[in-house]
Amino acid sequence: MKMTFRIVFWGGLIVFFAVVAVAVFTPVAVWRPTPTDVSHPYTAQEAAGRTLFYSNGCNYCHTQYVRDVDNAMGPVSEAGNYYYDNPMILGSERTGPDLSYVGRKRSMQWEIDHMRWPRQYSPLSIMPDFTFLSTPQATDIAAYLFNLGDRSAAEFMITPPALYASRTLPVIGSVVKTTDPNAPAQGWPTFKAAGLYDGKLIYASHCLTCHGCAGNGLGTYGGTLIVTPANFKVDPFRTMPDDQWFWHVSEGVQGSVMPPWKESLTVQERWDVIRFVQQVYAAPFERDPNEGSPTPAYQKKNPLPITIANIDAGKRIWTRECAVCHGDEGKGQGVYRQGIEPVPPNFDNPANYDPYIDADYFWRVSEGVPWTAMPTWKKVYTAQQRWQLVTYIRTMFTQTDKKPAQLPEAESFAITPTERSMTVPKGTTYEAGRQQFLIQCAHCHGLAGDGKGWDGTYLNPAPANLQKKLASSQPDITEGTTFAKVTNGIDNTAMPIWGEFLNADMRLADVKYLKDSFNIGTGAAGKTSHYGNGAVPLPYVRTDTGIFEAEIATISPDAGKAVYEQYCATCHGETGAGDGAGAKGLPGGAPAPFPGPHLFTNLKPSAPMNLPYIFAVTRSGIPGTMMYGFQPLLTETDIWNVSTYTLQVTGGKFGG
Ligand code: HEC
Ligand code: HEC
Ligand code: HEC
Ligand code: HEC
Ligand code: HEC
Repeated sequence: MKMTFRIVFWGGLIVFFAVVAVAVFTPVAVWRPTPTDVSHPYTAQEAAGRTLFYSNGCNYCHTQYVRDVDNAMGPVSEAGNYYYDNPMILGSERTGPDLSYVGRKRSMQWEIDHMRWPRQYSPLSIMPDFTFLSTPQATDIAAYLFNLGDRSAAEFMITPPALYASRTLPVIGSVVKTTDPNAPAQGWPTFKAAGLYDGKLIYASHCLTCHGCAGNGLGTYGGTLIVTPANFKVDPFRTMPDDQWFWHVSEGVQGSVMPPWKESLTVQERWDVIRFVQQVYAAPFERDPNEGSPTPAYQKKNPLPITIANIDAGKRIWTRECAVCHGDEGKGQGVYRQGIEPVPPNFDNPANYDPYIDADYFWRVSEGVPWTAMPTWKKVYTAQQRWQLVTYIRTMFTQTDKKPAQLPEAESFAITPTERSMTVPKGTTYEAGRQQFLIQCAHCHGLAGDGKGWDGTYLNPAPANLQKKLASSQPDITEGTTFAKVTNGIDNTAMPIWGEFLNADMRLADVKYLKDSFNIGTGAAGKTSHYGNGAVPLPYVRTDTGIFEAEIATISPDAGKAVYEQYCATCHGETGAGDGAGAKGLPGGAPAPFPGPHLFTNLKPSAPMNLPYIFAVTRSGIPGTMMYGFQPLLTETDIWNVSTYTLQVTGGKFGG
């Protein structure tokens, strides 16, 4: 046949469509897989999130397809997993992790926050900040992610495969397992001879963030997870056979973030860390640290001079690493405290610390304390940095007459031009800063910002009275200078270096709160009203006292009194008259005497200001006022207790 233009043209078209039909339309027409447990129909919100997911290019970096060569990413994907997907977004580049099974690994809030500030969660992440997505958009995407994968996939992990079955903890030295709670001398010699020291080092660097320093699953990261890290202090872990331990630590746990450690730890390292967890955390009894005294290598005097630079460097590390256990103010009240046995010490105890010399601190900071949660820092920080920590602890916390030298005079504070020019961006809300202040700052600066927080009392110098220091009448107090102080801390004081801990957005939210509460620069406080929409989130509104009486059998005004005195009296006054010591200087104005005006726009003005009303206010706060939502700080029971007390202290005036 002669290849005329016409034949080539039409012939080409026929071949093209034949190929398209076979490769594209036939599969669409005959593809009828059975849906698997991994597939779920999408709700309208999830479908919207899915559209946003690919329109924002998430699939350029994230796949949703697990091949059989993919180690430990979850079960191999099947056609039925994609039953409800149209179009499919398998993705082809794994710049970020595969997301097939990401659902229910973490909370929705984690997903939203991570999308906005990935480096807050994973410092080296190259994932872009998706801050331009609105909250509803980010929530839709999070809802979509939350739906991916299948929790029951975790359940196939019941008996160890052949590779792990019947393996037992290798014997080290003569000490295998200490099972006698009264066994003597459990200090360093036994600890090291039992091979626990190496395990402790690995635990601190690999497991602490999730499983927590007490092995109870309360690591800082653990709180963000839906499938929470195991608590080794309870069964089945206390009695779990060695091969189960070895298998799970090696392979990780499907459907959870527990990593497969065979990828990064040798066989021996895995056994070391297992031995440590089994004998220190899962052990059925407490051990005596029996520390002894510093070994000769540590018998030294602090070689560093007491300068602001050294104190400051110590404080930087303290804020980042130590405050979670020891507290910002060294009283042992950090967020990790819960569940640590023995608890971190209170450095404000001269009886204990008068006898301590430099070496006592340096040794413990370097080696840790055996059989306790105190980590070993010598692998992480240089000797100079550890001495800086000692300098910081001795000058700030253990204020005895044995402290190394007189504190240097505070030096004037260098603020960079960039810091000076910082201003609070438009979208920043008062609410975000207020909640942060409640959790991070109020225990030193006081709920009313008057410098009288419950933990700040023994610090020298005392926490700043922000009502005075930040008033518009003070020279050189601007958003920029305040940002710099929050970021860098204040030299030669216990004011933490928040730049180590809070990202810039969070610090700016603090500045916004400080500005509108205490007057920075422009004198906005008192004039700016944030009352806006004083709406209580509906789940907190209870109108039926019957419900709560069934919920909480033993609320008591007596227990509420202590809570009231610590958290409420500073503003509302002992009798609820609004004349607390801290309220006097509030530029935003003291609260009205109880019962104040009816402030909730989404409750009918006729709704009674009764006990459930007080509960709702105390729990969620009043938007835009200095009245915090105490939910992050107080338990539900304490909120009921203090509400009952409030009702009582005002002579039952609430309720009408
Ligand atoms: C430039 C590539 C890139 C883009 C685009 C991207 N990511 Fe990521 N993503 C990453 C990397 C790298 C990580 C791993 C580090 C981390 O956790 O941030 C990650 C981690 C994640 C994780 C945590 C997964 C896990 O199991 O730890 C989720 C969820 C996620 N991304 C969702 C998204 C969403 C939703 C979008 C779109 C709005 C998106 N990503 C866009 C690169 C990207
Ligand atoms: C990223 C957080 C994370 C890290 C880091 C982590 N784990 Fe886990 N781990 C988890 C979660 C989540 C679970 C719970 C999974 C489940 O539901 O069983 C878990 C469970 C476990 C279990 C119990 C497994 C079982 O039988 O259910 C062991 C044992 C364990 N982890 C040991 C370790 C050790 C040892 C390390 C350090 C080498 C470590 N983990 C580090 C998150 C983590
Ligand atoms: C995981 C929680 C945790 C972290 C993080 C932590 N510690 Fe500790 N620390 C403890 C516990 C618990 C003790 C008490 C042990 C005991 O009872 O003897 C302790 C004891 C100490 C002691 C000895 C006090 C004494 O009475 O002998 C010093 C000094 C110390 N820690 C400094 C630090 C420094 C500096 C950092 C940060 C680099 C730090 N710690 C981080 C939990 C922690
Ligand atoms: C461990 C106790 C402590 C905590 C927690 C703390 N501060 Fe401070 N803060 C201090 C001390 C001490 C000073 C310095 C007092 C002085 O200069 O005399 C200070 C000073 C300040 C100043 C400077 C006032 C001025 O212009 O002189 C600001 C602003 C401030 N703090 C904000 C915060 C914020 C915001 C937080 C929470 C994110 C916070 N602080 C948490 C103890 C603390
Ligand atoms: C930092 C100061 C401050 C602290 C601390 C504080 N409040 Fe308030 N509270 C306020 C302000 C401001 C209002 C706003 C109403 C007003 O102006 O009277 C308010 C309002 C209230 C109301 C609502 C009154 C009404 O008229 O609707 C209740 C109830 C209340 N607070 C209870 C408490 C309890 C209980 C605590 C302790 C757990 C507490 N507050 C701690 C400042 C504070």
